[in-house]
Amino acid sequence: MKSVLEVIKSTAAYFQKAGVENARLNIEHLLAHVLGRKQRMELYLEFDRPLGEAELGPLRDLVRRRAAGEPLQHLLGSVDFLGRSFKTDARALIPRPETELFAQKILDRHPSPPARLADVGTGSGVLALSLAGQWGETEVHAVDVSPAALALAAENALALGLQHRVQFHEGSLLAPLSGVFSLLVANLPYVPTGAISGLAREVQHDPVLALDGGPDGSVLIRTLISDARAHLQGLLALEIGHDQSGPLTEALSGAGYHSISPESDYSGRNRFLFASYG
Ligand SMILES: C[S@@+](CC[C@H](N)C(=O)[O-])C[C@H]1O[C@@H](n2cnc3c(N)ncnc32)[C@H](O)[C@@H]1O
Repeated sequence: MKSVLEVIKSTAAYFQKAGVENARLNIEHLLAHVLGRKQRMELYLEFDRPLGEAELGPLRDLVRRRAAGEPLQHLLGSVDFLGRSFKTDARALIPRPETELFAQKILDRHPSPPARLADVGTGSGVLALSLAGQWGETEVHAVDVSPAALALAAENALALGLQHRVQFHEGSLLAPLSGVFSLLVANLPYVPTGAISGLAREVQHDPVLALDGGPDGSVLIRTLISDARAHLQGLLALEIGHDQSGPLTEALSGAGYHSISPESDYSGRNRFLFASYG
């Protein structure tokens, strides 16, 4: 029988050979998941615990799938985002830490809650649901062109008890919405079509619809910048690609937005744009 520590060490070595980044962290998460531990750090208190076949069997399956490139988050089935747990699977983009930072920046910019907001390209619903959870009085709408993503977002809303707080709409950009919003947030696809096949194998498990931003990556964001003017009296908050801040700042300025401010992610790259209209 192998102990917890032995399994961690041997699987970390196997993951490393298979090209899995952060090999040890990955096996610790998977083992904690199989053992039903909330935190992987709990494993540190039971390094000598022997693992039986009832635990090793399911672990082997997860290890095989992770080594073949399936994302850790799909295997664990959930991600934490601003203190809430969101189900994640192949129906929508895996929420990223940068988007959590984006959400925090949106919250920081609002000392008082906005009256009405829309999350355009909601995916798993992380932005709409996190903001709805923080701002009890705000009317929240969420749009996605993908029915599969909307189904996942609705499941997340229900699991979080926020199903009455967000109205979900199927359609493209602002087409299914009416009226004026005080906040529009969007993490739309921003990868150039030709760059998708070169992305990491884990990213290939995200839906193409969540990645493909057209020939230069900014087609949908530019359309939103233009269309939003008919629906916005307030702030437009965009998560963008690392090389899009300059051209999209120009697009915002040309479209009549003011107070345009790029903001950086954890690695210091300008990945967010905030601009006001009206
Ligand atoms: C990069 S993902 C972001 C998902 C989620 N907001 C997040 O931050 O994790 C982009 C989302 O936009 C959706 N999308 C793509 N084209 C769209 C369109 N024309 N109108 C609305 N949503 C669209 C995709 O289905 C996908 O769910």
